[in-house]
Amino acid sequence: MKLITLSIIPMFLLVLSILIFSLVGCSPPDPSGTPKSFTPKKLLHEVYSDHFIIGAAVASSEYGSMDYFDKKYPNLLPHYNSLTAENAMKPEVIQPLKGSFNFAPADRIVKYAAANDQKIRGHALVWHNQTSSWMTEGTKEDVRENMKNHIETVMNRYKDSIYSWDVVNEAVSDQGSYRADSPWYVAYGGPEYIIDAFKFAKEVDPECKLVYNDYSVVRPSKRYDIMTMIKKLELQKHGLSGIGIQAHWNLYYPELEELQRTIDLFHQMGLEVHITELDIDCFDGIGNTENRKFDNDLAKRLADRYEEIFELFRKNSDKISSVTFWGIADDHTWLDYFYNSTWNAGKKLKNYPFVFDEDHRAKEAYKRITEF
Ligand code: G3I
Repeated sequence: MKLITLSIIPMFLLVLSILIFSLVGCSPPDPSGTPKSFTPKKLLHEVYSDHFIIGAAVASSEYGSMDYFDKKYPNLLPHYNSLTAENAMKPEVIQPLKGSFNFAPADRIVKYAAANDQKIRGHALVWHNQTSSWMTEGTKEDVRENMKNHIETVMNRYKDSIYSWDVVNEAVSDQGSYRADSPWYVAYGGPEYIIDAFKFAKEVDPECKLVYNDYSVVRPSKRYDIMTMIKKLELQKHGLSGIGIQAHWNLYYPELEELQRTIDLFHQMGLEVHITELDIDCFDGIGNTENRKFDNDLAKRLADRYEEIFELFRKNSDKISSVTFWGIADDHTWLDYFYNSTWNAGKKLKNYPFVFDEDHRAKEAYKRITEF
């Protein structure tokens, strides 16, 4: 008798749920259906005005793609009280040839931010990537002079506009210790270039928040290597004031406990925490070609993820000074071309990493991080 009773329970629940939905006049959302969009009740930075700065990375046609942020997102830009140049302030864009500067894309962002009461996070002064080869060619002294000149020229131009700079980006390798194949490391014969970068930046603007920015900072082994570098090179003595935690995350990584531990450890070192480059890869970096639709099921999973991450951010608003999305809406994300751990130029596989969809409408994820 008991076995029969147990077996009818699931059927009973199914009939009951259909009956309830039919009585209230709505059907359960079809998991593969098109997600609802929402009308924002408040601007993102207003919701977080007592917590931290809310920023977004923007493109300014720095590669001639006519992709101008201010023309693309006039209705969404007011959500942010900080902007970051996705590429316009990188060495290869700003000083492609020695002594030849291309400030126009960056100037457009700085001008827009000034007119709209937005701060600017500068990204990035010294990096192994997107840096023209001339900058690290010649003797160590030549390279040191190139770095000094670049940092002085760029920081002085934007001294009154940029409150924080990613001075050095991704100098620690994923295999432990320093990124020894960085052309800066090779030219210097070691990590001393990292000290110089912070020293030069501090000399230009002692008031600027100088940040070391990297990815996989939440991964314990790399986190340990970054903390060791900061202590060994005495970077805080040379001007380092903050850690930039690139938040290129996904629906599962990082675990919240590890994220909390990371924030605590850098805070205990006396560093401000900047959550930089936030986007949530909906496909966990896998370049699968099927099922890449943004449907109700994915919308809910993304919303759940954003909700738990921002709940943790709010709990740590005494340690976190800014949270910057690495883009604004799903119609422009580097993740469309970065999958299987590699850049796939021209081979777009759609991703949906932000709280605004491809048509710039607010997703369920937006609702969850603004109504709490
Ligand atoms: O759009 C142009 C296209 O018109 C042109 O024909 C083509 C020629 O190569 O370039 C295209 O520009 C690409 C640009 O993204 C478009 O946004 C560049 O090739 C490509 O290199 C560039 O990739 C950037 C990537 O850094 C390079 O490493 C991404 O935009 C940018 O989002 C990404 O950002 C980095 C951070 O700076 C540091 N942290 C990691 C993060 C993701 O890699």
